[in-house]
Amino acid sequence: MALLEKTDTLTVSYESIDNDHEKFINLLNALDTANNADFPVLYRQLYEHTERHFERENQLMGEYAYPGITDHKGEHQRVLGKFKQFKSRVDKGLITFGRSFVKDRLPQWLTLHVTTMDNALAMHINKQPNV
Ligand SMILES: [Fe+2]
Ligand SMILES: [Fe+2]
Repeated sequence: MALLEKTDTLTVSYESIDNDHEKFINLLNALDTANNADFPVLYRQLYEHTERHFERENQLMGEYAYPGITDHKGEHQRVLGKFKQFKSRVDKGLITFGRSFVKDRLPQWLTLHVTTMDNALAMHINKQPNV
């Protein structure tokens, strides 16, 4: 069974955001079954993808004058900090720490973030007249 399934609950109905989330979920599931040699490589991919994913959302928030921009950007910043913290452990060979982050924290975090903050952002964009 996959660590996290892409369900309707995790869909916000805005294509570029949904595509980023799908990629995130795929990498998370790949990390869950990766061996210790592949884990750091995939972890780096997830980290770099997450930087770009957050940057794309941050840009959309600016573009569409999203009122919740400060909190949402702040949450992205906070989570990237966690990613970085675990990346330095993984890079030192402490794979178990990375596995625990991937398995015990990221699925819950993504589910909550997508269903609250990202969903609110997508709703804001989708109700603009020029979309
Ligand atoms: Fe997102
Ligand atoms: Fe977000």
